[in-house]
Amino acid sequence: MHKSRCLALIFAVLLGFFSLTSGGEIKNQHRESKHGDSSYVFNHTLAITLVEYSSAVYTIDVSALFSWTCARCVDKIKDFEMVEVIVDIENCLQAFIGVDHNLNSIIIAFRGTQEQSIKNWIEDLFSIQLDLDYPGMPGARVHHGFYTAYHRTSLRPAILSAVQNIKSTYGNISIIVTGHSMGGALATFCALDLVVNSGEKDVQLMTFGQPRVGNAVFATGFNEYIPKAIRLTHQNDIVPHMPPYYSYFPTITYHHFSREVWLREEGVGEDKQLIEQICDDSGEDPTCSRSVYGNSLSDHFDYYGVELYADADSPCKFIMAEGTERYNKGVGGNIRLSRNPNPTLFLQSS
Ligand SMILES: *[C@@H]1O[C@H](CO)[C@@H](O)[C@H](O)[C@H]1NC(C)=O
Ligand SMILES: *[C@@H]1O[C@H](CO)[C@@H](O)[C@H](O)[C@H]1NC(C)=O
Repeated sequence: MHKSRCLALIFAVLLGFFSLTSGGEIKNQHRESKHGDSSYVFNHTLAITLVEYSSAVYTIDVSALFSWTCARCVDKIKDFEMVEVIVDIENCLQAFIGVDHNLNSIIIAFRGTQEQSIKNWIEDLFSIQLDLDYPGMPGARVHHGFYTAYHRTSLRPAILSAVQNIKSTYGNISIIVTGHSMGGALATFCALDLVVNSGEKDVQLMTFGQPRVGNAVFATGFNEYIPKAIRLTHQNDIVPHMPPYYSYFPTITYHHFSREVWLREEGVGEDKQLIEQICDDSGEDPTCSRSVYGNSLSDHFDYYGVELYADADSPCKFIMAEGTERYNKGVGGNIRLSRNPNPTLFLQSS
């Protein structure tokens, strides 16, 4: 066995030991609150809008998503111009990109995993080790699967060309990247890619219930490139606790970037309310979601009362206007629905 693999195995055993002896979630270590030194402020109104986009991207009726007539599309967001829907059938991924004329921003949204497989997916996250050197960021290691799902599938080229397409129509507008669950992990890599490799200046990220994607070095580097990053977590949502963080080994395990905003439920019945707790800039604030034992799937699927899961019971199913097709993993023929951005619409709304 290769020496480094052997060491990794020993660490894995040690980590397993500590997680058993610590009695679940580890608290009160590595606390370094530095409240109030961020210029970027959490915006509730923006969160309410972006959770709708993160929900809409789960729509399996791709035609209705593209025409922005899907049930999750029409209600809340009026002035959205869809530019491209990307369905990577082979890898069971979905994303869209368009222009929100109220926000005057490009919106890029990534879908999470399908509901049926999510239990397996979460169990897999327990066993995941850091396994990829992030290019150009020495010491940064990331989760291979999430990295690959963005960088080595049909998503990346489609998104980058759509961004250029939109900017050639609308000029220098800002970019907001969003997603829920695994979609948040993909959104993280996309936002970083746009800044590092495309030289975009104004990129912000807001994700819902995303897992950890890299180590502490990655988290720090990420925040330097993307200071406008918000990670929402909800009460006992299980996914933000995955893959595990161990405060005994803060530098070698997975580590969230900042800034977390923890949606905490308080009170019961009529008095029940949702508190948006702004967390410290460590990425692993022990007083936020780490203060609870995150074990809830239902909290994962609900942010601000918006449902975040696929409206179909089979994985990787999707519908086109010309009939229903069912594709499984391994089948090729990815789909891109795209149009040119519409300058007329822009002129009307300005
Ligand atoms: C929050 O975002 C909304 C758009 O969703 C914007 O209109 C508003 O000005 C923002 N508020 C602050 C304080 O930045
Ligand atoms: C584009 O916008 C960014 C941020 O809003 C600004 O810093 C930059 O100078 C702008 N570039 C051009 C070419 O207008």
